[in-house]
Amino acid sequence: MSDTVTAPPAAEPAPELHKGLAGVVVDRTAVSSVDAASNSLLYRGYPVQQLAAEREIEDVAYLLLHGELPTPSEREAFDAELRAARPLAPGLLHVIDLIPTTAHPMDVVRTAVSALGAAMPEPSAAPGSYDVDDTRRLATRLFGALPAVVAYDQRRRRDLPPVPPRDDLGYSADFLHQVFDREPDPVDVDAFDTSMVLYAEHSFNASTFTARVVASTLSDLHSSIVAAIGALKGPLHGGANEAALDLLERVADDGGADGAGDWLDAAFARREKIMGFGHRVYKNGDSRVPTMEASLAGLVDRARASGHPRVDELAAVYDALAAGVLERKGLKPNVDYPSGLAYHLMGFDTAVFTPLFVASRVLGWSAHVIEQREANSLIRPLSHYDGPALRDVPPHG
Ligand code: COA
Repeated sequence: MSDTVTAPPAAEPAPELHKGLAGVVVDRTAVSSVDAASNSLLYRGYPVQQLAAEREIEDVAYLLLHGELPTPSEREAFDAELRAARPLAPGLLHVIDLIPTTAHPMDVVRTAVSALGAAMPEPSAAPGSYDVDDTRRLATRLFGALPAVVAYDQRRRRDLPPVPPRDDLGYSADFLHQVFDREPDPVDVDAFDTSMVLYAEHSFNASTFTARVVASTLSDLHSSIVAAIGALKGPLHGGANEAALDLLERVADDGGADGAGDWLDAAFARREKIMGFGHRVYKNGDSRVPTMEASLAGLVDRARASGHPRVDELAAVYDALAAGVLERKGLKPNVDYPSGLAYHLMGFDTAVFTPLFVASRVLGWSAHVIEQREANSLIRPLSHYDGPALRDVPPHG
């Protein structure tokens, strides 16, 4: 052994490990609280169900970014900021056009956020030199611009020209207008707005924690958001809404609601996870599901009335799978289960569901970046090494 290398002490027994950080409290937050025992989710103290019923996503956006609901004049100024952010610069459209349509829409959103950050960087995130109002402005611009990014990408995939934003429409109505180029149906607008409110924030989930880790290095807002988008893409997190709709369609094609029980038995025998079910924190049902299911019910009625060819089949499979998973595993759906079918009935392509989640969660991520900076400590955990013991590099050749 070389005398320039000091052998570490003999291997110690493994300390208690916290795989997946399950149950570990790593910091305080005033942005939201998730309480599994009371099945509640509060954004800065307000129940999310009440916010969804009483307020539009713009008010919730302001609440998350600024800490309080807006006064009428604050809301007016905030709306003006959002409207100003809606038209995308030609350079950004060019960047999107360079990405092949074989790429997943999440890759497009991730790249677009990166390009927006490069075009309008934060001066510095170092304590004392950054201005929280600048960060709020950048976050507001990002929230205002993302609908156009998602809409532009979905339309180019359908070989359709982009639709310019409309200043007379609110956030959710204009989002739908930019995607579908028709007068938005109030049933869609209400359900979409509800989904945006429910998706906006959820404490220290994987993507938010990712954003906070990046922010803790004093990196910039857009880098934190790009990293968070990468975390959200996975099917164990935001990608579950797409996977849940794929699941409904697969079971509908493969025996329908009557065959759902057999389908589940086979999936459990293969030890497959059923997407849209279970949650790391909620062990007795996701607090957001009843609100999203109420909106979904309106979309199902509307789809039936307008003769949607598969709505009955999909709705029956939805119920059969939920009952079957509960009976076999005791697991309840999470919010991605109803939102997947809801987005499908609104007419969105399945691959665009998780970018819709991004469009809303950018609010929570930004609020957490701001909060992380206010009382920052570099996030740098330890690990227990269990690889090979110290050894000399053998001579070359
Ligand atoms: N389908 C089947 N079994 C599931 C399940 C699911 N969706 N979710 C949890 N389980 C089972 C696990 O197999 C495990 O069983 P076991 O003890 O017999 O091995 C047990 O429940 C605990 O699961 P675990 O993965 O340790 O729980 P977790 O708290 O780490 O997982 C999720 C939480 C969200 C990752 C998990 O429920 C999941 O993968 N769900 C599907 C993906 C999804 O919908 N994600 C969106 C979350 S909002």
